[in-house]
Amino acid sequence: MNETILKEGAFSTDRYISIMEKLLLVVQELSASKDLTQVMNIVRHSIRDLLESDGATFVLLDNDMCYYAEEDAISPLWKGKRFPMDICISGWVMKNKIPAVIKDIYQDERIPIDAYRKTFVRGLIAVPIRTHDPIGAIGCYWADNHAASPEEVRVLQVLADTAAIAMGNIHFQEIIDEKAQQLEKAVENTLQVISNIVEQKDLYTSGHQQRVAKIAMDIATELKWEKETCEMIYRAGIIHDIGKIGIPSETLSKPAKLTFYEYEFIKTHSEQGYNMLKNIPFFEQIAEIILEHHERLDGSGYPRKLKGDEILPEARVLAVADVFEAMTSHRPYRPALGLEVAMDELISNRGILYCANAVDALTDLVRNKGYHAPV
Ligand SMILES: [Fe+2]
Repeated sequence: MNETILKEGAFSTDRYISIMEKLLLVVQELSASKDLTQVMNIVRHSIRDLLESDGATFVLLDNDMCYYAEEDAISPLWKGKRFPMDICISGWVMKNKIPAVIKDIYQDERIPIDAYRKTFVRGLIAVPIRTHDPIGAIGCYWADNHAASPEEVRVLQVLADTAAIAMGNIHFQEIIDEKAQQLEKAVENTLQVISNIVEQKDLYTSGHQQRVAKIAMDIATELKWEKETCEMIYRAGIIHDIGKIGIPSETLSKPAKLTFYEYEFIKTHSEQGYNMLKNIPFFEQIAEIILEHHERLDGSGYPRKLKGDEILPEARVLAVADVFEAMTSHRPYRPALGLEVAMDELISNRGILYCANAVDALTDLVRNKGYHAPV
């Protein structure tokens, strides 16, 4: 008997309402699921709950084989195994794109009886996952002969259809995540290239941006800022002096004291950096941070002479990292001033020039956690 037979009958009103309420919750759970394992677990548990069955399986189509990805009650007999489509009821369901409803497996020629003798199964329903182009099947087992009603088949098919949508969503989400990772990598590489270009122009400060980026991120992490904000501040740090591309190398690397005009020209680098990045997608926030990295709390910074909270928190942290790195690094025209001198400068101007929270976080790192400037 190779036709699907649906037993006539219906749920009682109370059971119908209860099943619909549960089904609604299951559909919500499935639409929020993050991976295939979660989908399979939800389906497996809800089948037993909704249909009061004794077991369930979740089979995936894998290179023309039925892969028993998840199995409840028959396990460990079939879980993780693959069977040819022709000898498996899940294969029949996928090939025919319709449910199989079997009251007694010992009376149905589609069932490979020898494979089932070791199991408790007597009655079953199996439905395809994604009816028009099946990607798997869901099975529901009873230990006794069970003439499933059309309602039971419909409930199982709703579960399978929702599982198919959830699996599709997960697949697309994986593609989106992969693309986002590739984009992020491309952004990182671009930032490194820009950083190297800037530092080739300004040989006095080779490696400065990399180190500032690391210190700024360490401070932000110490402040327990969100991971995304810490990454943002790192990216801003890596190219914070990008505006120096517009300043002649002779001025940046001048071995003598700068004139007033030369210094004023160099000071334009934060605004020049901002102008370079402000209209580039993904870089708008970084541009704002870069614009403000030389602002000081008392309004003595540049270019806008912003005060206190007018300065972005990320820019305030970057400023502390910038000063700390500059004072603890060697320059061709002077040796490093040292950790203590740098901390004295920051602590004595804590809350005056530099963000108190950022200075405190760095002080804690240096004094209590053995932190020293990256090399
Ligand atoms: Fe700068």
